[in-house]
This record gives sequence, C-alpha cells and structure tokens, in this order.
Amino acid sequence: MNILVTGGAGFIGSQIADAYIGNGHDVIIIDNMSTGVKEYINPKAEFYEMDICDDKIKEVFSKHKIELINHHAAQIDLRRSVEDPKFDINVNIAGSVNLLQNAITSGVKKFIFASTGGAMYGEHDYFPADENHPTRPYAPYGINKMCVEKYLYYYNHVYGLDYIVLRYANVYGPRQNPHGECGVIAIFTDKILKEVEPLINGDGKQTRDYVFVSDVVNANVLAIEAKGPATYNVATTRETDVNYIFDRINHYAGMNFSEKHGPAKLGEQVRSVLSFEKISTELGWSPQTDIETGLKLTTEYFKNNKR
Ligand SMILES: NC(=O)c1ccc[n+]([C@@H]2O[C@H](COP(=O)([O-])OP(=O)(O)OC[C@H]3O[C@@H](n4cnc5c(N)ncnc54)[C@H](O)[C@@H]3O)[C@@H](O)[C@H]2O)c1
Repeated sequence: MNILVTGGAGFIGSQIADAYIGNGHDVIIIDNMSTGVKEYINPKAEFYEMDICDDKIKEVFSKHKIELINHHAAQIDLRRSVEDPKFDINVNIAGSVNLLQNAITSGVKKFIFASTGGAMYGEHDYFPADENHPTRPYAPYGINKMCVEKYLYYYNHVYGLDYIVLRYANVYGPRQNPHGECGVIAIFTDKILKEVEPLINGDGKQTRDYVFVSDVVNANVLAIEAKGPATYNVATTRETDVNYIFDRINHYAGMNFSEKHGPAKLGEQVRSVLSFEKISTELGWSPQTDIETGLKLTTEYFKNNKR
C-alpha cells in the first residue's frame, strides 16, 4: 500500500515509517525538519522536505497514488501553543485540513491521526479516563487536536473518508528529543547521563501514563486494517509519578543524584491515566513494554546515541 507518513523524520513518525516499510508498504514522508532528524528518515522512503501547510503538498499527491495518510507532523510543544496559539492553529489545524482536502481530491481511502489523550481530558472525573470521558483540554495544543478530530468526523460524514484516531498517553523511548520542553523522560535521561542534575517541578507527585514508543508503533500497524471511524486511547493504565522516573533513570544510568525540587508549574495537571480497554477489545492491542523495561531501554539508547 502507498502510505504517506507526515512527521516521518520525528520521534514517533520515523519509527512508524520503519515498521510500515518493514511490513512491505511503500512509504512517502513529508516533514519540514523543524524538529525532525535526517538520520531517522528511512532510506527506503520517498522523502519530501515540505511543510504540511504549504499548497505544494499537492505535488506529492499527484505524483504518488496515496491510499492512506498517517498524520504525525505537528507542533508538539504545549507551552509554545500557550505562548503562540496562532502558530499552533496554523500547523495543527490548518496543516491537518490541508492534508484532508488533498485526501478528498486525490481519492485517499483512510486517515490515521495522532491525537492526544494526555492533553485532551484535563483533570479526570474518574480513573482511568476512557474515550467517553469529557474533553477539557488545558492548552491550545489539546483544543486544536480536538478540533482536528471534529474535522475527521466531518470528512467522514460528508465525503466518506475512513479514519482512526489514536489518542496517545505520554509517549517515551528511543529517538525522543531531549532538548524540547516536553518529554520528561528524554529530558531527565539526557541530563543525568551528562551529569547535570535535573530539576523536578513541584513535589514530583504529579502522575502520567507513560507508553513506550514501540507499543505506539504497533497500534499504528493495527490501525491500517482497523475498521473506522473509531477513536482509541493508546495507554498503559499505569500511573507513574515524576519522582519514580527520576529514581529509575538515576539507577539505570548508574548515577547518584538526589531529588532536587523547583517550583510547581502553574496550572499543571495533577493526575492522568487512561484506559486502553477499547483498543484491546476491538483491535487486540495491549502495551508490551512495562515502565521499568522501557526506562531501562531508553537509558541504554541515550547512552549509545548522544545528541
Ligand atoms: N510524544 C508524545 O508524548 C505525544 C503524545 C500525544 C500525541 N503526540 C503526537 O504524535 C505526533 C508525533 O510527535 P513526536 O513526539 O514524534 O514529535 P516530533 O517533534 O519528534 O515529530 C513531529 C515531526 O513533525 C515535523 N513537523 C512539525 N511541523 C511540521 C510542519 N508544519 N510540516 C511538516 N512537518 C512538520 C517535525 O519536523 C517532526 O519531524 C504529533 O502529532 C504529536 O502531537 C505525541
């Protein structure tokens, strides 16, 4: 199958492209290299350095008979979305709609969308949050992901475009960018290995649901054949706090830093943990990598791949 992977030079998208190519698909990548890494681009993919907001993406659709779009290109920085909501709207909504318009005019059959569970539900009314939990995003990033989900509903309803929405919990693992504002595991691992003491925001008891990148890739493999339209959380239903992450990375890195706490981030969500029951029942997906193994693998990766 001809599959367009947007963001295919990034942390998650590049590993999805690798898996699709490994499964015999022809992969076309669009990435503007804003956070992408050249070495992550699979050499067997057709690569276009382009912005998803640009009209030029039409050329990619006319050159290749794309059957499926896997959309991972995005502005992923929550704080940047707060500081510059218009930029986030431009990339995350207008860029997505640009792809959707091209999908319709060129006969694409299906769209897989990387959405967010972690930034979609807000403080939970119940634990774990399932896909029916009220959506209360705390930042433009989550609002804009939610908006694209609505666009998908519209494109399905009006044009019959099939889609799968994958709402990720907090994804971590090899290739995650340690120099950004998000991804506490990558940031801590990078710092600890460079012998720089990381600062824990607040008391460090804030929890998240951390899902390992290879499990996220598997969900994207299953999503190709899944019958849409459908929306799934991709999560582990295990709550982990920041102090635990700090402790384990310290241990796997062979370092001996003690916890150092800074002021809490204003408005930071306290707890987040998501149900994966729906994707487990309907697609047979479940997380294969527990947090201990994932942290160990991530630390090993960062040890051997300095950035
Ligand atoms: N990492 C997580 O925990 C997480 C959680 C929920 C959802 N997601 C979603 O998964 C997707 C991938 O995230 P990631 O963590 O791999 O981030 P990433 O920054 O590594 O990947 C994003 C890729 O998109 C590219 N890109 C950005 N803007 C672009 C544009 N305008 N045109 C073309 N390419 C552009 C970047 O260069 C990069 O290669 C994003 O849609 C993100 O919102 C990630």
